[in-house]
Amino acid sequence: MSGGSYLVSRRIRMLIEPWDSTPLTEQERVIGRQKGSGAPFGKTDELAELELAATTLDTKVHVRLAHPSANNGATLLRRGYSFTDGTDDLGRLDTGLFFLTYQRDPRSQFVTIQKSLAGNGNNALNEYIQHVGSGLFACPPGVRAGEYLGQQLFTWPLANRRLTRSGTALEGSASRSRT
Ligand code: HEM
Repeated sequence: MSGGSYLVSRRIRMLIEPWDSTPLTEQERVIGRQKGSGAPFGKTDELAELELAATTLDTKVHVRLAHPSANNGATLLRRGYSFTDGTDDLGRLDTGLFFLTYQRDPRSQFVTIQKSLAGNGNNALNEYIQHVGSGLFACPPGVRAGEYLGQQLFTWPLANRRLTRSGTALEGSASRSRT
């Protein structure tokens, strides 16, 4: 897609009963941050730099596996929403994280990071979560005055081509490069 971004959504069920009965120290070890402040270990500020090289976090810790240094530099714009949807047939809470993430290229970003998290024996968090829903959405770029949403989808590359009735291009080719 030229401009815009892709939204990957995941409904991730959290096996909350076992998670809640896990000691705080174990929960923090699984994620790799302090639960109360959100800060990296040894720091007090949530926004303090996560210095992975300087810590003794083990290899299965969530923040280490998800970090750009473990994923060819891949980053994500993330937003998670907690959900609670009653109980399942066994009376367990149907609860978890509705995970939304925006990126330019899901293959090199979400997929790379998710593979790292899901890899065999990886991510101590996997014991407590289950991905139960997934979606991929193309989000066209924003609009300026006089434009309409998704305009680029209709004006490129068709604007540069003369088409037959069946849609085959007769002449011209895309003059804009994809980014
Ligand atoms: C229920 C599932 C999940 C939980 C509870 C969870 C929880 C967390 C927490 C507490 C942090 C540290 C605070 C923060 O940076 O926001 C974090 C970081 C992160 N998570 Fe997750 N996460 C989950 C699933 C995922 C998934 C599916 C992905 C991507 C495929 C992901 C990617 C990341 C990334 C990229 C970071 C930042 C790592 C860094 O510091 O560079 N997480 N997660």
